[in-house]
Amino acid sequence: MAVINKGFYESILFQREQKQNRFFALYFLAAVIIYGTYSGQRNLSRQGRCMGNRKDSMERTMRKPGKISFIMISFVHETLYGLLRNPHKILRSAGLLPGQRVLEVGCGPGFFTVPAAEVVGPGGNILAFDVNPFAVEHVQNKIDGSGVKNAKVIIADATGTNLPDHSFDLAFVFGLAYPLGKMDKIWRELNRVIKPGGTLSVEGGLRPPKEWFGFEESNGRISRYISRNRDV
Ligand SMILES: C[S@@+](CC[C@H](N)C(=O)[O-])C[C@H]1O[C@@H](n2cnc3c(N)ncnc32)[C@H](O)[C@@H]1O
Repeated sequence: MAVINKGFYESILFQREQKQNRFFALYFLAAVIIYGTYSGQRNLSRQGRCMGNRKDSMERTMRKPGKISFIMISFVHETLYGLLRNPHKILRSAGLLPGQRVLEVGCGPGFFTVPAAEVVGPGGNILAFDVNPFAVEHVQNKIDGSGVKNAKVIIADATGTNLPDHSFDLAFVFGLAYPLGKMDKIWRELNRVIKPGGTLSVEGGLRPPKEWFGFEESNGRISRYISRNRDV
């Protein structure tokens, strides 16, 4: 009897495991497809090779600070990102140090927010912002759930944040492939809020203007610049 029960119990466990594996495989596949479409479109649009309508509709969706763009972004960030990227390592190569006051531009689902708070430690703090209220609500829940006390998230637009002049040691701009507003305005605003001699770290192909930011170092996809804080 005990043997039959054991076999029966094992077969239920096996079925449950199979179901979980299938669910994980489907989830993974969907994440790969969305990530592929998202990054493929981004590369094609950078090279100017994308067909008008497809590119336009993708860009319009990603730029809209609404629920759909948030779901698409967070789906990738909460699955593939966690498997492929180490946020603490990336943030250290972006120049984050204990004790700094740091600004996170366009935090999205907050893959980097809590790790950034951990890297700067209790003597530092992080202010994350995003123009999308769904992202901000999600990141607020993440911060509350993590127990870190030195992170805050607000709704703001990078083209005009209303933050005080020269108030951050470092700002980082990751994954801003589809910014809302012109990058020129965003660079101008970051030049205003970063302290003189402070750091701007960017990911990927973004290049801040040389007259405001002096190139310091590149490490993989992350490049660091020093804010010259010229009047703008
Ligand atoms: C692809 S996500 C990147 C999230 C995060 N930085 C990361 O790398 O994991 C880009 C985010 O930038 C936000 N964003 C775009 N334009 C913005 C702007 N002008 N001001 C603030 N946030 C902006 C979007 O709402 C989106 O959540």
